[in-house]
Amino acid sequence: MKTIKIAKLLALFMIVVFYACSSDDTDEGGPDEGGNTVTKVQAAFKYSISESNPNILVLENTTQGEGEYKSEWDFGKGEAFVVDQPGLDMVEYDNAGEYRVRLIVTNSAGFTIAEEVIKVDSNGICLNNICGSDPGGDVASLKGAANGFAIGTAVQAGRLSGKYDEIMRADFNNLTAEYQMKMNIMYPSQGNYDFGPADEIVNYGLSNDMNIHGHALIWHNATPDWVENFSGTDAEFEAMVEDYITTTLTRYKGKVRSWDVVNEAIEDGSNELRNSVFRQKMGDNYIEKCYQFARNADPDVLLFYNDYNLTFDTGKQAAMFAIVDNLKAQGLIDGVGAQMHISYNGPTKEQIQSVVDGTVSRGLLMHFAELDIRANPEGDTNVSALSSQRAIAQSDKFKEVAEIYDAIPQANKFALTIWGIKDDESWLLDFWGVPDWPLLFDASFNPKEARQGFLEGLQ
Ligand code: G3I
Repeated sequence: MKTIKIAKLLALFMIVVFYACSSDDTDEGGPDEGGNTVTKVQAAFKYSISESNPNILVLENTTQGEGEYKSEWDFGKGEAFVVDQPGLDMVEYDNAGEYRVRLIVTNSAGFTIAEEVIKVDSNGICLNNICGSDPGGDVASLKGAANGFAIGTAVQAGRLSGKYDEIMRADFNNLTAEYQMKMNIMYPSQGNYDFGPADEIVNYGLSNDMNIHGHALIWHNATPDWVENFSGTDAEFEAMVEDYITTTLTRYKGKVRSWDVVNEAIEDGSNELRNSVFRQKMGDNYIEKCYQFARNADPDVLLFYNDYNLTFDTGKQAAMFAIVDNLKAQGLIDGVGAQMHISYNGPTKEQIQSVVDGTVSRGLLMHFAELDIRANPEGDTNVSALSSQRAIAQSDKFKEVAEIYDAIPQANKFALTIWGIKDDESWLLDFWGVPDWPLLFDASFNPKEARQGFLEGLQ
């Protein structure tokens, strides 16, 4: 391991990390010699990947504390702690794997730890912890072309083999369960969890080095009947919700990287909170209660709010950001999911950019969470095939969306998820009841012009 002290480096990827796990000691502090109460100093650090060598991690201790304290690094290589010195540390990771990088800050009141897991593959340290994006390598693959973010797809247990498996391993490194990690599937009756399909998806993703995005803990459209018709008191209802969120996040801790805790809480038109059973029984602040339950269960998992029509519907976008701001003020959110169920002819580039700008200005991660692009938004029932004109227009829109996402600052990049693999299995066909071809592959798993346009937008 080489640790080289250097002056401040220029033009580095600066990814801000403020992970402070609770310290192992219980002492919250005590008086110093002068009788003043000493409290623990919160460890914090930033990390970056050297532009000159992708195997070199650059670490900056950003701890702010009063009084005497000591900072030590654990570079996750099973070696002795290294006392932090002024300036930046550069650490070389030559072997592929996962490393828990920790900064331990100790004073008379105890210690705190800031931690980040980094992944290293054959190309060096993985940008934003997303391996597989291989800038000099297989850029014909979607995930290989993406720069510093994951390319996701909606997935179903039961569709993890054959051509599904082949395409997912070639093009994708992020998975969202299309429906099998929702409450109505995972918690079909009180006290009876069924994590079977969810486990199948999570295990498939982990065995193929894919990040898993959990979707969605609380959603009015996937609430089991027994919850809708809950027979207990409101207090018992809230306790049940806390148990469900705690049980689920505990099960997938360290496996599922992120969760949509609440999905689609805003009523279309009024932009008020939907009057879901969660709101009725837990109060208007049910959203922050659910995010607090999630944060308590897993302080390291990334928490997202997810909704649709956040681009052109400025009222709904404002209502969403009001929810997000309230959560952010309490440290309860890490990212925004804009679903992106759009059409070849709208929303405009500027409208899409507006939800990106609002998310980035808040220092949050942006997830384009459910991208599909209707080629027949007029609902024409006389069309029986995707015309070349619409295929090209759709491809251009996929390219535009990819370019918008790629231009997001690195610190706010997360994933761009396509809502499914092939056209004939899209939810849109049942939802609108008219022919359409909204995805990147056709019904025979053949890549469409849409995939080419999307790839060009990523490159
Ligand atoms: O696979 C089973 C099948 O075996 C069974 O015979 C059949 C009848 O019960 O159900 C099939 O599962 C259905 C599944 O889609 C697969 O087609 C579920 O019932 C059905 O509820 C499920 O719908 C999903 C819906 O969310 C509700 O969970 C859609 O696939 C999915 O695309 C849709 O996705 C939502 C996002 O989560 C949130 N944003 C909107 C988006 C579209 O509604």
